[in-house]
This record gives sequence, structure tokens and C-alpha cells, in this order.
Amino acid sequence: MKSFYITTAIDYVNGSPHLGHAYEKVLTDVIARIRRMMGDRVHFLTGVDEHGQKVQQSARQRGVSPQQFSDEISAEFRALLPKLNISNDDFIRTTDERHKRVVRGLLQQLHDKGEIYKAEYQGFYSTRQEQFLQDKDRNPDGTWPEIYGEVTEITESNYFFKLKNYQDWLVRFLTENENFVFPKFRQKQVLEFLKEPLNDLCISRPKERLEWGIPLPFDEDFVTYVWFDALTNYYSAVVDRPGVWPADYHVIGKDILVPPHAVYWMIMLQACGLPLPKGIIAHGWWSINGAKMSKSTGNFVEPVGFVDQYGVDPLRYFVMREMSVGQDSDFSFSQFLARYNAELANNLGNLVNRTLNMTNRFAGGLIPAADEAGVPEKELQDLWKQVQAEVPQLWDGFQFNVALERTMAFVTATNAYIEKLAPWKLGKSAEPADQARLRTALATMAEALRLAAHLLEPVIPASATRIHAVLGYQPTDNWADKTQWSGRLQGNRVAESLVLFPRLQPPDSAAKS
Ligand code: ME8
Ligand code: MG
Repeated sequence: MKSFYITTAIDYVNGSPHLGHAYEKVLTDVIARIRRMMGDRVHFLTGVDEHGQKVQQSARQRGVSPQQFSDEISAEFRALLPKLNISNDDFIRTTDERHKRVVRGLLQQLHDKGEIYKAEYQGFYSTRQEQFLQDKDRNPDGTWPEIYGEVTEITESNYFFKLKNYQDWLVRFLTENENFVFPKFRQKQVLEFLKEPLNDLCISRPKERLEWGIPLPFDEDFVTYVWFDALTNYYSAVVDRPGVWPADYHVIGKDILVPPHAVYWMIMLQACGLPLPKGIIAHGWWSINGAKMSKSTGNFVEPVGFVDQYGVDPLRYFVMREMSVGQDSDFSFSQFLARYNAELANNLGNLVNRTLNMTNRFAGGLIPAADEAGVPEKELQDLWKQVQAEVPQLWDGFQFNVALERTMAFVTATNAYIEKLAPWKLGKSAEPADQARLRTALATMAEALRLAAHLLEPVIPASATRIHAVLGYQPTDNWADKTQWSGRLQGNRVAESLVLFPRLQPPDSAAKS
């Protein structure tokens, strides 16, 4: 059986992880968990991008070797994964021997096939972007845009990959596979980019300018251009694992779709005769309080500290609930607080509390069997049927925010059901009919909670597991068992209590000013 293979971008190790890096891992993890839940064998890869000018420079500034520097920062990125409860199967570093060997192998193969040639290049070069520039990159007044940093004119020999020859093929491929890039408007941007003639890609850097890279196998005076090196990670990590390549999805940010993933990587694979990935998911970017994330201005969410303070699931829930995949989003603490209190503490957390408290108070802690379903139960079950059918479709369309909204609407409806049935009143009555209603109410709220937790599990796995545990319930691997309304909790002993999401107080305004 072919594995469902999903990857994140590999992060540059020139700075510490931030919210954008965390989001991409969580998004990919949610997809991986959904696929595992649906019975797929999943292979989930993430890692770090360690070579290149930026790392060499950052290491110099700190007075350490690039290897020492990237060892340190890579460890930080790796430590972020368990913090975020990421279920990756592998972690690749571009300094791994297994990776370098494959990069050199592919380069040699392309060189042997005549896809790589040497030529003299004269022109402008941006060190910051590690990229050669053309006149079309200039501002209208002839200066260079600030993003390029210092631009110098250079003449040097380099190796080039014959990208140009594949332009027509790539346009055809993207036209025939119109859903290759999600969201669709990004696919259009790729085709827009391909309306201009492609240049061959310079895939080498002379060693005197950059030593921190993988030497070209056919000319050791040069190292490999960082994108050629980095993109190959997706393949090098699984080259020895049968049934994994090609990738099902590369999950990346919008900034690295065109040209690196949608153009360079596709053409590299095609030129090497390797199968292409099935798709690319390009997510949007997070800003913080309406401004671009920046370390220098301190406008930054540090994910490890955030998780230590507020917990992993609140962060996972917030980013998945707030962002529509493909669109940009803004992170503000007040918005986080509002969602946390309204949706996690007062809605889901409240349902957990009520279920445990009332089962303990009125049924000696044992979930009763439901009596015949009345109108309120039937309404709730009908709503569940809709949610159960709709959520997997929303997942398929990467609409995780809407899926969460629908699931939480079901939790809200369950809380409303409890208010309507008022078990605290039924519990005071000795009437057999009231006692039957009470048993039905307790069974219904417990079952609704069990079901909702299953649909929330990919996003808040630790909390879902705790909810199931306090219901004395051990899930099976069967999707129908997980999601069909049933009486399977009957007779289970519930826990005393569980405070999953303690209410958060807004930061004290006096202390803030
Ligand atoms: O680009 N919001 O690494 P990187 C959301 N090494 N996502 C963000 C973000 C933000 N504010 N900022 C960055 C690289 N990202 C290369 C990738 S892949 C073969 C090589 C995302 O550390 C960004 O879009 O700059 C990218 O997908 C990932 O974080 C790593 O960015
Ligand atoms: Mg970047």
C-alpha cells in the first residue's frame, strides 16, 4: 500500500521558530492525523534547511562555525515539535549524510544527461536573497528594492540547469491538473508567472563566496544553490523507504510557491524522471496585531513560551479555527482570549464539566442507558448526522476552520439541550417518567461529547484523549464506531471532574499601561 506522504517546508535555521513556523507544523499535523484516522498509512516529514549564505552570516556574527550554529538552532526547531504535539514520522536536516548523498546523486545524474552546463555570468547579485537579479527587478527609478539588501555587480562562472526547456511542459501539466495547487487562485499565479519566458537556473555558488553548502559532485570548487539543496529533502528523506514517494502534499507558505516549489521543484523532478507530487497546499501568512512579524520590533509570538503559558491545544485550536487555509490571518491576544473563553472554556469545557458532575450527582457516576428518544434527542441526533457527513467533506476541501465551527455548533446545541432538559430539576423528582428523562439526558450528553471529541481530535488530540478517558471510553480504529451515534458508553464509570480549559482573565489593564 502506498503511504499518504505529507511534508512541511524545512525551516531556515538563521533564527528561532515563530508562530508562522508553528502554524505550518500544526496544519500539516492536522491533515496527517485526519488521514491516519481515516485508515491511511501516513508518512509525515518535517525538518530544517541548514545551508546557505544566511546561516553562514549568522554564524560569523556569533563567532561560531556554521555547523555549530545550525546544530544549536536545529535543536530548537526539533524541540518545538513535541511541544506542539506534532506527529511527524521523520525529521530531516540538510546536513544529514543521507540528504547530501541524494543531492549529489541527482546533480550528477542531471549533469550526465546534459541538463546542466557551465557558463559565465555577468550581472547583479543580491546576497540577502542569494539570487541573481535582472533589470526587471529594479524599482521604476532604477534603484534596487530594499528586500534585496546590498546589490553588487559580479562576473563569475557558474553552473546552470536547463529550466527553460521545461516551460511548455510545466504549463501543460498545470493546465491539465487544474487543482494541483490549493487554493486555486495560487495556481493561477503560477501560470501567470509562466507567461514570461523562464531563465535557466543558476545552481552553483563559487566556494570562495559561499562555503556552507553541498559541493557539486562534478566540480568541488562550487557548492549547490540552497534551493536545489533544500527542495531535494522531500525525496532524499524517503529514497530508502519503499511505497512513500511521490508526496501527496507539500504544505508550504505562499512566499515559497513561485518559483521554488511550483517551478524549480517540479522541473527538477521531471528532468530526473521522478514521479511528481500530487499537490501543493500554499497557506497564508500570520501577522501580529496587524503588523508583519519581526524580531527587531518584538512583534512576535514565541510558540514554546506561549504553549507553556496557555497549553498546546488552545494554540492549535486557535490557529486552525482562525485561519482559512490559503488566506492571511492576524494574531492578536484579545482575539485568542475571546475564542479561548467562549469556545473552549465556556462551550466545550462546560459540556465536559456538566456531563461529569451530573453523571456523578444523579447516576452514581455510571453512564445510564438512554430511554426512548424524544423530540429534543431526535433533533440533536439529526444535527449530528449533518455534522458527521459534512465535516469529512470540509476536511477534504482543507476548510478546517469551518469544520471546527460546525463541530462547535454541535457542542453549543448539546449545551442548549441540557438547559432544555434541566437534569437538575428532573433529579429532584421521584416520578418514573422524570427519572427516565434524566437517564436519557445523561446518556445523550455523554454520547454527544464522545462524538464531538472525535471530530475535534485532529486539532486538539491531547484534550480529545482526556475527554474520552474521563468518559471511561477507549476508542477503536473504526471510523463508523467513532462517529455513529450509539449506546456504547452505557455502564461506563466517569471521572470525578476535569477542568480542561480554565477560564482566562483578560490581562489587567492597569498593569498593562
Ligand atoms: O522559506 N506566517 O524557510 P523559512 C505563516 N527554508 N507562515 C510563515 C510565516 C508567517 N508569518 N513566516 C514564514 C524557507 N512562514 C525555506 C523553505 S522548503 C524546501 C525550504 C513559513 O524558515 C514560510 O512560508 O523562511 C515557509 O513555508 C516556512 O514558514 C519556513 O520559512
Ligand atoms: Mg522565509
